[in-house]
Amino acid sequence: MPDYQTILQAIQDSPPGQAIASSPWMFPTLETAHVVALSLVVGSIAMLDLRLLGLGWRTHPVDRLARQILPWTWWAFSAAIVTGALMFVSNATLYGVNLAFQLKFALIALAGFNMIYFHKTAFARVAEWGGALPTPPAARIAGAASLVFWASVVAAGRWIGFTL
Ligand code: HEM
Repeated sequence: MPDYQTILQAIQDSPPGQAIASSPWMFPTLETAHVVALSLVVGSIAMLDLRLLGLGWRTHPVDRLARQILPWTWWAFSAAIVTGALMFVSNATLYGVNLAFQLKFALIALAGFNMIYFHKTAFARVAEWGGALPTPPAARIAGAASLVFWASVVAAGRWIGFTL
């Protein structure tokens, strides 16, 4: 079984890794697309979180707002994964051992667990409370936790460039 550094080196030496690393425009273009995608991910999730906290979109029932917003979130998240992965392969030996990069992934996982737990619990009964203000405590806790996790993901993401 090759060690972690050998795997990272093989990823970086791959044709897409070499092509992006040697191109003057590919990486900046990917990073621009990554910033646009992550802005849509975090921005759309924040709209829902603010509704869960009763701070925004107060006249919109949570279930209807979620139905309108989440498809955008998932498309943007897919774009963030594709652009992020392509940037990663271009410099895998540095990113793979970068603490800010690893922290960002741990925070994305935490944000994901928080979302899954909310959808499996309070959101499963949203038909009962969707239009209510205030929302149930579980919804407000999920919304607040989500805002903190995603803001931390953005901070960790930004830190990568300063710690390479
Ligand atoms: C929705 C989830 C994500 C968010 C919110 C996010 C956030 C960020 C942020 C804020 C930056 C700094 C951009 C800048 O200021 O130029 C960044 C850079 C980066 N992200 Fe993400 N990211 C996400 C997903 C991913 C994924 C899935 C990967 C890899 C598979 C990834 C890989 C990278 C890389 C390699 C950089 C470039 C760091 C650099 O050299 O400056 N990101 N990300």
